[in-house]
Amino acid sequence: MTTNKATNSTIICVVGARPNFMKIAPIMGALHALDSASPINAFLVHTGQHYDTDMNHRFFEQLRIPKPNVDLEVGSSSHAVQTALIMQRFEPVVDEVQPAAVLVVGDVNSTIACGLVAVKKGVPVIHVEAGLRSGDRTMPEEINRILTDQLSDLLFTTERRARENLLREGVAETRIHFAGNVMIDTLLGHLPMAVDPHSLFRQISGARLFRDLTRYGLLTLHRPSNVDFVETLKRLLTTIREISETLPIVFPIHPRTQRRIRETGFGTYLDTPRILTLPPQGYLEMLGLMKNAAVVLTDSGGIQEETTALGVPCLTLRENTERPITIEQGTNTVVGTDPARIQAVFTDVMTTGGKAGRVPEYWDGYAAERIARTLSEWLG
Ligand code: UD1
Repeated sequence: MTTNKATNSTIICVVGARPNFMKIAPIMGALHALDSASPINAFLVHTGQHYDTDMNHRFFEQLRIPKPNVDLEVGSSSHAVQTALIMQRFEPVVDEVQPAAVLVVGDVNSTIACGLVAVKKGVPVIHVEAGLRSGDRTMPEEINRILTDQLSDLLFTTERRARENLLREGVAETRIHFAGNVMIDTLLGHLPMAVDPHSLFRQISGARLFRDLTRYGLLTLHRPSNVDFVETLKRLLTTIREISETLPIVFPIHPRTQRRIRETGFGTYLDTPRILTLPPQGYLEMLGLMKNAAVVLTDSGGIQEETTALGVPCLTLRENTERPITIEQGTNTVVGTDPARIQAVFTDVMTTGGKAGRVPEYWDGYAAERIARTLSEWLG
């Protein structure tokens, strides 16, 4: 199979799930802002992997992402069915649009599914956030990362270590471009609009304790490895309950986690006025909650980076991370799911304020501009 050089200036940009939205928003903006002498027409395809107002529509509104040109409306199902459905519905779009390239972001099922369709049709694939590796092949995202990078023609990285990972896997050096972190473009651009958490707490009847609080912790949990195993989920929720005795916890709950908590009856661990459970929050609400938190406990990849950019201590409730720069330079500590380890690092953060951290290179608000410039030259 050959990869044809681009022949026109339309790039299909793909989004599917919540963590894609903050990555695609600045890219769409930067492509749109390109010089009229070298225009790129961005054609937005939404796979519909996430579809709820809380997980989807609110992000389009808050981040002012243009309405997708096409919505594949695939919804939730097993990995195989979801990936297959995306591929089946994406193929005719590629046939119709005949793009110069397909641009995918991150590591969700939509990323690999659309990349695979494109490469098999001889359409170049551009991967933004390439080269991140956790080394943990039980993570569905790790498989998506490795495969997407293998089939991509242009790979944009967020940190220098990613290049080493790609070279080790045989990716040609000329394809790799260190552009920085587009998610941080979105964060920096929206900080002034972040919702004050206290205005959020005032609207919630069960949040009386939180209205006058100066310090709270923020929790997010959604990794299958944490929420799909009864013992792990129980251990984590028990630990959070204990931590909440020291520091009240705000917990916006992902739909997958909500379902597991309902099925297991573990809601009792959260049944205290010192834990505030919320539905999934919008981008600006979450930004305000993160920025003002004393500490963030999470298993999200994106939040590890966002807390590093904000200088807020982060405890990652996983055994590994694909974002080592947040450990080496940022405010992140990988604590796993062992209660003693979580408690020890939490206590340290409460007493010392946690790691000082610094903002990594090129997490400066201009990553999407660098990507757009490179694409414009590449399309030539
Ligand atoms: C997906 C991504 C993960 C990302 C996460 C962010 C993959 C393999 N995983 O995981 O990398 O960190 O998104 O949220 O692509 N659901 C709803 N409404 C929605 C979407 C999902 O209720 O709008 C529920 C459904 O019950 C679904 C479950 O959440 O079965 C999980 O959704 P799914 O997209 O399969 O995976 P996530 O866990 O969200």
